[in-house]
Amino acid sequence: MADTIAVLDFGSQYTQVIARRVRELRVLSRIYPYTTKASTLKAEGVKGVILSGGPASVLSKGSPRPDKKIFHLGFPVLGICYGEQLMAHMLGGKVSKSSHREFGHGTLRITKKGKLFSSLPNRLRVWNSHGDRISKLPTGFEAIATTENSPYATIQNTSKDFYGMQFHPEVAHSEEGISVLRNFLVKICCCKQEWSMSSYIKHSIQTIRDQVGDKRVILGLSGGVDSSVAAALIHKAIGSQLTCVFVDNGLLRLNERENVKRLYQDHFDLDVRVAQKGSLFLSRLKGVSDPEKKRKIIGNTFIEVFDDVVTRLKKSGDYNFLAQGTLYPDVIESVAIDGNPAALIKSHHNVGGLPKKMQLSLLEPLRELFKDEVRELGKELGLPKEVVWRQPFPGPGLGVRVMGPIQKKDLEVLRKADAILHEVMIESDLYYTVWQSFCVFLPVKTVGVMGDERTYENVIAIRIVESIDAMTADWARIPYEVLRNVSNRIINEVSGCNRVVLDISSKPPSTIEWE
Ligand code: XMP
Repeated sequence: MADTIAVLDFGSQYTQVIARRVRELRVLSRIYPYTTKASTLKAEGVKGVILSGGPASVLSKGSPRPDKKIFHLGFPVLGICYGEQLMAHMLGGKVSKSSHREFGHGTLRITKKGKLFSSLPNRLRVWNSHGDRISKLPTGFEAIATTENSPYATIQNTSKDFYGMQFHPEVAHSEEGISVLRNFLVKICCCKQEWSMSSYIKHSIQTIRDQVGDKRVILGLSGGVDSSVAAALIHKAIGSQLTCVFVDNGLLRLNERENVKRLYQDHFDLDVRVAQKGSLFLSRLKGVSDPEKKRKIIGNTFIEVFDDVVTRLKKSGDYNFLAQGTLYPDVIESVAIDGNPAALIKSHHNVGGLPKKMQLSLLEPLRELFKDEVRELGKELGLPKEVVWRQPFPGPGLGVRVMGPIQKKDLEVLRKADAILHEVMIESDLYYTVWQSFCVFLPVKTVGVMGDERTYENVIAIRIVESIDAMTADWARIPYEVLRNVSNRIINEVSGCNRVVLDISSKPPSTIEWE
């Protein structure tokens, strides 16, 4: 197995970033709860331990502590921020409240390079975020770097291979942070930089097999990147013990159900059960125009339908797990679960709730990964580009792209128009260059003329945006020729629409979706 570094999680928002940086340095990283026993880490053969930062203060009663034995089993240990303070505190030093909270950039002055700062300049701009600081070093430690507010910004005990730093080497704002981590991994833990996505797949497959045993797993397949990659990975691990459930809510794009079936069932040989519930969703949405109400109805109906399928499946077999394609960004946004000590930022629809009610354990094999890593994983697993690089599609589907009350005939118009836009975007090599490109149905009738006939039909709006993370977005400058082609084709080929308009609003103040 590839050399592994254990990252003990004390609830920092950056824990996963640390793990990711280690993987970028081609060393396998695994995140463990801070309560993990040192003997477990020893048994798993880890080459070194990183203690993450965290929001607690070591001075507070009940603040999270690792198993003391991690300092006695011979692993190199690197404490970051809270991790450094913990190490100092637990090994006999002193931590006190700082009169100055150090937040943001600071200059690290390196006084002794040693292995940790080997080949680095004497001064580095680093990123800090802490209130407490070390006021007395434990025996055997020395300071090797300072900042304006911290005489012990970096400390070491070379006889034990213990290192601590007040700053965050894992964040992009810390100059040479990655080199500091590389020195820890390579020069101190003696890790070989041999990890790759294919070794991650091997490792994940083993973990999934160990976790699942001979039980069965249900996965809600949406056709999006995350659930698709999770399905492909789990299927590789446990084959026919995985059953995928795809809910057709009647708000899907043209041929979406058939495409999902073709790819996953026929190509990947997955067991896909399709719950065809379009009529149920549409009957509940009848006459509803408020976007939030629509979302609630769609969300609740989805849970009800999924719950029903799961109940029936459970009667037919030994299903114990619900698999989800939860990614790391989903996890940090909903950290109040699992006793994770990080402060709650925001709850997320993807995590928690559902499995408890269904009495299933969660299986989340992508939990440690970032989106780009998931894409790489999907590619490695043989998923086609159209899945791996698919644009985001909202859970409520076309339900929030038909303005006002949803009618079946309007959905059909929208589907056809949207398929044309998709085709043109692919043909003109623009589909993968933008964040999203889609059509919106406006139930506004306008006058037109086709042949010798007057028409009185609806409007289709085109929304094409560029974005990094959907928090902000700008309308994409699509060549006029391409827009002309889309507009001509929609008006000529789709009956029920005689006018196409282009949305040129940025986010903020507009949102990407219209509802
Ligand atoms: P907005 O419209 O808020 O969208 O600018 C930002 C991103 O989120 C997607 N989106 C959703 N995704 N369920 C989802 O799973 C939803 O209810 C939902 N609403 C918006 C949207 O497509 C865009 O990428």
